[in-house]
Amino acid sequence: MPDGEEAEVLTDPGAQRPVDPVSEGKVDFTGVQWGSVEWTNLCMLYLRACESRLAHPILGDHLAARDVARIDYDFKRIHRRVRSATNQFGVALRSAQLDAWITGYLNSHPNAVVLHLGCGLHSRALRIGAPQSVRWFDVDLPQIIGLRRQLYSESETYRMIGSSVTDPGWLDELPAGGPVLIVAEGLLMYLTPAGVAELLHRLVDRFDAGELLADLLSVWTLRLSKVVSPGMVKWGTRNGSELTRWEPRLRLIEGISVMAGFDKIPLTPQRLLYRMQYAMPVTRNNDRLFRYAF
Ligand SMILES: C[S@@+](CC[C@H](N)C(=O)[O-])C[C@H]1O[C@@H](n2cnc3c(N)ncnc32)[C@H](O)[C@@H]1O
Repeated sequence: MPDGEEAEVLTDPGAQRPVDPVSEGKVDFTGVQWGSVEWTNLCMLYLRACESRLAHPILGDHLAARDVARIDYDFKRIHRRVRSATNQFGVALRSAQLDAWITGYLNSHPNAVVLHLGCGLHSRALRIGAPQSVRWFDVDLPQIIGLRRQLYSESETYRMIGSSVTDPGWLDELPAGGPVLIVAEGLLMYLTPAGVAELLHRLVDRFDAGELLADLLSVWTLRLSKVVSPGMVKWGTRNGSELTRWEPRLRLIEGISVMAGFDKIPLTPQRLLYRMQYAMPVTRNNDRLFRYAF
């Protein structure tokens, strides 16, 4: 095994990181249905937690590991379902690239408002260490925010909004003006094109200036998803230009494959697999991150 190589492929953070239930508080998620959107979020959380247990993680989301340890749920069953060690790196690479863009933006716009759309159970608002002057809004469906509220508390600068992003009402809860940073990780592909277009119009109308960071699936991935899970993915992108066509006040600044940072993967077999996939456009473009300004 080369120097720095990890021996563990996918650890079980819930089992290895006991927490004091009095000081941290256990939460009961045993009612979450297998296959529901809440369950999907538990899987994502679990993958980030697993990745954080590696000696040289890419994302290193220790708060996810803390949350998994606090949550009463059969994570062993999730472990068996998501055990492919490749998944944790896809999730980690995507989140790490977004974190880098977010940090860059907040460093130059310390008074920004952040809208984290489809936030799920992501610890990003805490993990990223945003300047105190940043006002951060985590937005997701009411049932997801219901789970989140058991893990996180609001503060003067951190709020959670339980609403579909396609409902117009939630924007009334936001300060108007700008600058704004809108983050949509693993979200826009599940909304219809008309829903995305309306959302973008509303956001750009409400704020003077800002950036939108989002990952989009390719047209090929859309076709594949029609076979594997029909109806789930609503649209695919060719090159990110759909969003600028639907909302012409957006300018595309940058687009990058989620896999672009594959050389940071600490496990050799998975690094080689990602390298191979990165070499082929059809797999390299499966999920891409795009940065837009307005
Ligand atoms: C694949 S998960 C990604 C979650 C999170 N961004 C992450 O990376 O862990 C998609 C998220 O989008 C949320 N979502 C889907 N449709 C939504 C909508 N119309 N409004 C708000 N959130 C939505 C789901 O509840 C879920 O939390």
